[in-house]
Amino acid sequence: MFRTLSPADPTEFSGKRAIVTGGSRGIGAAIVQRLVDGGASVVTTARTATDETPKAATFVQGDVGTTGGVRAFAAAALDRLGGVDIVVNNAAAARSHLGGIGTIPDEEWLDALDLNYLSAVRVTNALLPALHEAGAGSAIVNISSGSSLLPNGPMAHYAAAKAALNAYGKALAGELAPAGIRVATVLPGNVLTPGADRIRQTFADAGGVSLADTTAAVPLGRPGDPRDIAEAVAYLVSDRAQWVTGATLVVDGGELPIV
Ligand SMILES: NC(=O)c1ccc[n+]([C@@H]2O[C@H](COP(=O)([O-])OP(=O)(O)OC[C@H]3O[C@@H](n4cnc5c(N)ncnc54)[C@H](OP(=O)(O)O)[C@@H]3O)[C@@H](O)[C@H]2O)c1
Repeated sequence: MFRTLSPADPTEFSGKRAIVTGGSRGIGAAIVQRLVDGGASVVTTARTATDETPKAATFVQGDVGTTGGVRAFAAAALDRLGGVDIVVNNAAAARSHLGGIGTIPDEEWLDALDLNYLSAVRVTNALLPALHEAGAGSAIVNISSGSSLLPNGPMAHYAAAKAALNAYGKALAGELAPAGIRVATVLPGNVLTPGADRIRQTFADAGGVSLADTTAAVPLGRPGDPRDIAEAVAYLVSDRAQWVTGATLVVDGGELPIV
């Protein structure tokens, strides 16, 4: 079980303006809450708010899976915050095709790239001028996935999009380093969230096992809690990580047998 943490330093992100995509539930909601707890002003987006969506953040309904949706969200977020210091590209959706890679339709490959990779590129591009204005000390974190390093067939399109996100983050870090803007990539493992539980249930049903069985092999003895990822993000966007850029951080309880 996740052990409760001491309260966050409520001043760590004082005066910081943060934009987090996909903060209506799951990992995104935990990241939003963690940044709010640290004193940041946060704007988040999703297509639908839920009971889990942190009330202390500003929620802007939107769809970052399209170029128009990104443009509208970025403009609305900057309008609310007056600028931005922290960007977390978290929104994504995984789908699985148990019939194998060849059964993934072409349009689904394109959707997977749009939402799981290009949305982060587009959101970042839309916010780059504002990040340059904020200057040194600002930071971008892209939420990738352990599956980008160890992909499986049924989710090959999702994993490929996340692998592209890893490469993009590395390139972006090099380009933005002279401006003092840092970029990091977080690779979560099996974290209990509404979206991931839905996918794991599909695999559990196909394998005739329980949902709990799908996360039973995590070396640290439990599946991830969204707060495990939020804590890593809080570190990476903070001044505690001021000499960290271009890094990929695997947060998975030790499950990935590589890196
Ligand atoms: N949980 C895991 O085990 C796990 C493992 C590896 C990586 N990850 C990564 O961690 C991140 C969060 O995943 P999660 O498990 O928290 O997923 P989740 O529970 O499905 O939450 C995804 C969030 O993204 C939003 N979203 C999806 N499509 C969107 C769109 N087109 N426009 C705007 N928002 C959109 C969702 O809201 P709406 O659907 O209402 O738009 C929701 O807020 C993702 O990048 C995921 O790939 C998760």
